[in-house]
Amino acid sequence: MDTEQIVRTFVEYFEERGHRRISGSTLLPPPGDPVLFTTSGMHPLTPYLEGSPHPLGRRLVNVQRCLRTTDLREVGDATHLTVFEMLGTWSLGDYEGPSSLDWGYRLLTEGLGIDPRLLHATVHGGDDRTGEDTASLRLWQDLGVPVELTVEDNWWSNGPTGPCGPDSEIFLWSGDTPPRSTPTRDDRWVEVWNHVMMRYRRLDDGSLVPLPQRNIDTGLGLERLASLLQGKSSVYECDLFDPWRHLVPTLWTLDEQSLRLACDHLRSAIVVLGDGVRPAATGRGYVLRRLVRRVLTVLWRDDPSRGLGDLPEELVSHTLDHFRQERDSDEVRRFLIDEENRFRTLLERGRRVLSRPRFQGPLGEEDFHYLHDTHGLPRDLVMSLRQE
Ligand code: SER
Repeated sequence: MDTEQIVRTFVEYFEERGHRRISGSTLLPPPGDPVLFTTSGMHPLTPYLEGSPHPLGRRLVNVQRCLRTTDLREVGDATHLTVFEMLGTWSLGDYEGPSSLDWGYRLLTEGLGIDPRLLHATVHGGDDRTGEDTASLRLWQDLGVPVELTVEDNWWSNGPTGPCGPDSEIFLWSGDTPPRSTPTRDDRWVEVWNHVMMRYRRLDDGSLVPLPQRNIDTGLGLERLASLLQGKSSVYECDLFDPWRHLVPTLWTLDEQSLRLACDHLRSAIVVLGDGVRPAATGRGYVLRRLVRRVLTVLWRDDPSRGLGDLPEELVSHTLDHFRQERDSDEVRRFLIDEENRFRTLLERGRRVLSRPRFQGPLGEEDFHYLHDTHGLPRDLVMSLRQE
């Protein structure tokens, strides 16, 4: 089953159960939101989880693109991507956790054909914030799905303050041999679907207060599910990456880890540009700049003549099409190439400046300020040039 079919099956399943599809899924949070990028499906729904009526009603379904830089170090492993898509469902003060989990189980097994013996669940075991989640526990036991109880791993929040609550997570077995243990002890259990009982709001002083309504917020990682359904051992091998895996190795010879990083960061940079962000020295634009610079650093390690001008238009348009972005692919390519030129010039200048006697010894704060303010050399760039 390819990702398009998974999305269609998911959305139709929940539409048949009274959910309305939210349109639009930009990475840019609404104005006034302190977070740079949308990091989860629930993020744009925060006001509605907190009680404002949603124009589409109390049952919602969506496909939301997300960007997480917290996982940047993990990019390249089997399950983490910088930009990924989350299939999400919400009950805004309507049905409760067991209904959501029961639908989840049936969609995975009956709708998507997953063998129920490959599933494991985790449930919140109770702490000083909330009691054991007995309703979820009972549901899983009735369905015959093994359950592990945890505390911190089964609590979800989008940040230090705001809506949060206990969750129940569904894991899918990815190993070739039988599991040695439960999800927290055998990482071949891959978390695919999180169902959060979003009932609390954390305030600035750290205290928890009940939200005006009991919500359910679920998020299912599309690329993770697709790779497992397609029998692949990493998200980079699911069908969405087919053109990347086919074309990138014809341009540049890269080891598997560098290939994954290049595909992830270039694809993410295209999506961020597609949502209208431009490279900059701060904020969103700086995240974009870092993605491009990390790719170039990897490419130039082996061959400094490599460049983004070689990137086939097909990869840019495939990505923009998949994310339903209207942006012109030539324009996106031009931004990537301009950014590459800027980085090349900056590196040349950086090498020249850093070769001066003044910068041969250890650098102090004053040096970093001078290099930044006078020569436009950010600290992380200075550090990496000094390691060359
Ligand atoms: N908010 C939860 C998550 O991102 C479920 O959607 O995992």
